[in-house]
Amino acid sequence: MEACAPVLLARGKPCKNLKEAAENFRALLSFEEIFGNRNPVELEVGCGNGGFIAELAVREKGTNFIAVELCTNVLLTAMERVMREGIPNIRFLNIPAEILPCYLPPASVRRIYLNFSTPLPEPSRERQRLTSERFLAIYDAVLTEGGEIIQKTDSGYFFDYSLERYRAHGFTVKDVTRDLHKSAYAEGNIVTEYEANFLAQGKPIFRAVAVKE
Ligand SMILES: C[S@@+](CC[C@H](N)C(=O)[O-])C[C@H]1O[C@@H](n2cnc3c(N)ncnc32)[C@H](O)[C@@H]1O
Repeated sequence: MEACAPVLLARGKPCKNLKEAAENFRALLSFEEIFGNRNPVELEVGCGNGGFIAELAVREKGTNFIAVELCTNVLLTAMERVMREGIPNIRFLNIPAEILPCYLPPASVRRIYLNFSTPLPEPSRERQRLTSERFLAIYDAVLTEGGEIIQKTDSGYFFDYSLERYRAHGFTVKDVTRDLHKSAYAEGNIVTEYEANFLAQGKPIFRAVAVKE
């Protein structure tokens, strides 16, 4: 963990109570200071072992990336790769996405990637789904005007739920496919770790974009 300090911006919870932290604690990041440039910023929520964001950052050198992940173990793999390969345009937050407003300035992010977020079908866990209204309000606050959320999932149920939530929140939904790998959106798609597993099982991948108008 210590060796990864240069790419880790924050870790853990600033207060015990997440709601209190999200509302009251602020340690807003200066992307210009962090990256040494004013390039646009994109965010991945739940980056896992970081394969997707590392590949994207190498492909898009003129964009800065922030990757958020709750689980320290998988994030270590991601950070070690970025350190080893010297990828300059990625930094990490080892925090729950619930407290993103503590660190990300309002209207500072032009795109958010949600790759294979856990569907959590139990009604009692609706609030924890990364496309529930409380998370959409957070994404809305940190996205620029015209900013977008790009979501991929293997779960038809979670996909339909997410599209309904985006629309209810006021986002415009576009570029919808229920079988990404047989669609026009397959070109340039970066396959994530979970996506590779689902593809190996012969599952279709659902994908959509939600735009903040
Ligand atoms: C199913 S995995 C997908 C990993 C990766 N995106 C992929 O496609 O291979 C979902 C990831 O989201 C993370 N996660 C879930 N809820 C989170 C939250 N509230 N804040 C940050 N990360 C979260 C989990 O720890 C897990 O690593």
